[in-house]
Amino acid sequence: MNSAIEKTLKKIKDEGLFRSLTLIEGPQSPRVRISGKEVLCLCSNDYLGLANHPEVKEAAIKATERYGAGAGASRLTSGAMEPHRELEDRIKRFKKAEAALVFNSGWHANTGIIPAMAGRGADVFSDRLNHASIIDGSILGRANLRRYPHGDVNALEGLLGRSTAERKLIVTDGVFSMDGDVAPLKEIIALAERHGAMVFLDDAHAVGCIGKNGRGTLEHLGIERRQSVIEAGTLGKAFGSYGAFVTGGRELMELLMNRARSFIYSTALPPGVCAASSKAIEIAGREPQRRKRLSENAAFMRDGLRKNGFDTLKSSTHIIPLVTGKAQRTMEITGRLLDSGVFVQGIRPPTVPQGTSRLRITVSSEHKPADLERAIEVIARACE
Ligand SMILES: Cc1ncc(COP(=O)(O)O)c(C=O)c1O
Repeated sequence: MNSAIEKTLKKIKDEGLFRSLTLIEGPQSPRVRISGKEVLCLCSNDYLGLANHPEVKEAAIKATERYGAGAGASRLTSGAMEPHRELEDRIKRFKKAEAALVFNSGWHANTGIIPAMAGRGADVFSDRLNHASIIDGSILGRANLRRYPHGDVNALEGLLGRSTAERKLIVTDGVFSMDGDVAPLKEIIALAERHGAMVFLDDAHAVGCIGKNGRGTLEHLGIERRQSVIEAGTLGKAFGSYGAFVTGGRELMELLMNRARSFIYSTALPPGVCAASSKAIEIAGREPQRRKRLSENAAFMRDGLRKNGFDTLKSSTHIIPLVTGKAQRTMEITGRLLDSGVFVQGIRPPTVPQGTSRLRITVSSEHKPADLERAIEVIARACE
């Protein structure tokens, strides 16, 4: 065994931060099988229950039969295929946007778009709780990364005021992936406009879920679309498939096709995956009751946990943190929960700041209130 690997693994284990995979036997669903036992799943981002939807699977199968399993190369190399184009058309209609471009994942989108928009010499202003891919995107582009405390628009204003960079990009999650709260986007956009900055909104956990038509954070907060805001969303969460997209003007897409390295230098998504995403967006559009149930289930879960004395931070969405403090304690609790038939992930540093390890509870539109009620009881017992 390589001693450097051994040493690093030992350090990770000693700190209580060792991660490993839990095998689930079967598809993503509100209930999953682990080691032959059915458990309630409260850790998936399949928020609208579309990952195992028969029509979504059928769309993937049909497109695979017609177009094959793979895209052959980057779309700039071996040609743009129809399912990718159809997906972009579907996204444009869904988001009411002039143009859309599909990326292979949210990770690809953030590590491609941010360097393309803010390279060397630019200032990137990033909320401290933004997703890891946003931080990596800023580092990759060699921009100056200016992080501001979570949701603190006064601190952001101070940083913007001191910036002498010609290009300024403010980046924020719409719904924060580990806290489940919503970014103060009205204030952020006002600051951006005052200071000549662009805003990049990573709406990974918002699209499909919030806003009257599921269009995400801007719609949820009643903010008109504007040129200064670039919106991105993922297809692997609420839409149950895989991939990501960015929407905006046609020129922005041309720039990204020419400058976003993760778009240019990576094999495009398989056609079947694109067809699955298109179908999922269609279903989410014609079945708004999924979004309504998601919001009701989230409120039920948050209220139930708060009534039991738990601190769920400022969550107002389907992502509900339950701060447990130390990493070790968090993992002991998740072990007890699994033994009692509830599958929840413990989230530890560096995903969240030191001392704020937590259970990250996510609900879906397909959970039954009785299941959630039982889960709240089990969680309360496991945390005693
Ligand atoms: C806010 C945010 N952005 C981006 C990503 C990455 O998206 P993907 O899983 O499609 O790579 C995630 C996901 O896990 C996320 O939470």
